[in-house]
Amino acid sequence: MSATVIANLKAYLSDTQLKVWIREFVLGMQDSKESENSIIICPPVTHLLLFREQLDENDLSFISLGAQDISMYEQGAYTGEVTGSMVQEVADYVLLGHSERRKYHGETQEAVQKKIDIAQQYGLLPIVLMEKPEKHEGTIFAVGYEPGSSIGSGHPEPASEAYSVMKTIAKNYSDVLTIYGGSVDEKNVKEYLAHFDGVLVGTASEDPHEFVKVIQKTY
Ligand code: PGA
Repeated sequence: MSATVIANLKAYLSDTQLKVWIREFVLGMQDSKESENSIIICPPVTHLLLFREQLDENDLSFISLGAQDISMYEQGAYTGEVTGSMVQEVADYVLLGHSERRKYHGETQEAVQKKIDIAQQYGLLPIVLMEKPEKHEGTIFAVGYEPGSSIGSGHPEPASEAYSVMKTIAKNYSDVLTIYGGSVDEKNVKEYLAHFDGVLVGTASEDPHEFVKVIQKTY
């Protein structure tokens, strides 16, 4: 079965570094212009359009884009917010409920649900991330299990242990893809894909060469 490989570029890179990232990624993918797997890149929202243009111009249209978050509000007087209606022009997916949003922005389960509703309204496919089982309603493309102690630590949770947590998470959903995130890299990606439908890659996507290696391991 085909796998879903997602890059979460977080806020790692500057504008200049992101431009280098996409250039190097495009070069790295020259021999991998088709894939049975789904590849989704989630750059900062400021660079979604540039990424779309560059991927399309370089025969990499099969690669999809996602936003790292959207506002729980509709269009309106919400200074600083990026709404679902803005993002839907350039992205197909959206990460929701990432532990860094919950930790640094006090995002609650209710807020995540509101964002799922907005995503649905604008045709964005939500990839809903959680550390423990959480029930949400609506059209959910994928649920991701991300153990806090494994995020950015270099200490991934063993795949079989992680999958037993995922089984509990997935009970709340029908017809969703299962994703693991937390210190996934080119060395361990295959272990996770033996259990999960996909992986979410943070640290190992900061360097485009490393991310290309992760992708190549999934072929
Ligand atoms: P990591 O990040 O690969 O650096 O652990 C994963 C994530 O936060 O989604």
